[in-house]
Amino acid sequence: MTVHIGAKPDQIAQTVLMPGDPYRARWAAETFLEGAELVNEVRGMLGFTGTWKGNRVTIQGSGMGMPSLSIYANELIRDYDAQTLIRIGSCGGMQPHVGIRDVIVAMTASTITSPSSGIFREMNYAPCADYGLLAAAVRAAEARGTKTHVGGIYSSDVFYAERPDLDEQMVRHGILGVEMEAAELYTLAARHKRRALAVLTVSDHLQTGEALPAEDREKSFGDMVEIALEAAFA
Ligand code: ADE
Repeated sequence: MTVHIGAKPDQIAQTVLMPGDPYRARWAAETFLEGAELVNEVRGMLGFTGTWKGNRVTIQGSGMGMPSLSIYANELIRDYDAQTLIRIGSCGGMQPHVGIRDVIVAMTASTITSPSSGIFREMNYAPCADYGLLAAAVRAAEARGTKTHVGGIYSSDVFYAERPDLDEQMVRHGILGVEMEAAELYTLAARHKRRALAVLTVSDHLQTGEALPAEDREKSFGDMVEIALEAAFA
C-alpha cells in the first residue's frame, strides 16, 4: 500500500492504463477486462486489475491535471514497479483537420510548467512517448480504421484558458490537441526508464466549439481503450 493506492503489491499489473476519470476506469475495466477486481478506492480514485487476452492489466484513475497524475504515476512506478503506463483520456482539438471523435497518439507533450519543470531549470525539456508503444498504437489504430493523428500535444494546467495568443502559437506550430496530464507522465517514465504513451479521443474543439455528445462518448472512448491495450501487448 502507498499513501494514495490501497492495493497490495501483487494486485497491480506491470501494464497500467490511466484514465483521468475514476468512473471511466470502472467502465473500461468492466467493458474490456476479464475478471476485473477493484484494487484501489482510496479517495475514490478507482483502480481495477484483470486480464485482456490473457495479459494482466490495471486500469487506475489518475485524476485531472499533472499534480494528480504525478502522485499516481510515481507510486505505480516506484512502489508497484509498473513498466508500461498509457494515459487514455480526452482532449480538445486544436487543428482544423482534427475532428471530434478522432484519436490522437501523442508523440510529444509540450507544457509551460509541470510538477517536474523545477528540476530542469533553464532547459526546455521535450517530453516524448515511447517509440515502440507509439508505433504499435498507430498500427492498431490503422488496422481498426480509426481516424488517427500522430504528433505533438499540449499539456495545460488549466481547462479554462485565458491565453488566446498562446493557443495561436500552438496552432501555428502544429499542436494537435490540448489535455492536462501527458507531459508529466512522459517525464516520469523517462526518469524511471519505463514506457509511456498517451492515446486521446478528441472530445471538444477549440476552434469550432463542437463537443462530443454524451451518448457518443462510450463508443469513441472504447476505440481508444482497445488501441491502448493492443499497443501495450504488441
Ligand atoms: N480535455 C478535454 N478537452 C480539453 C480542453 N479543451 N482543455 C484541456 N483539457 C481538455
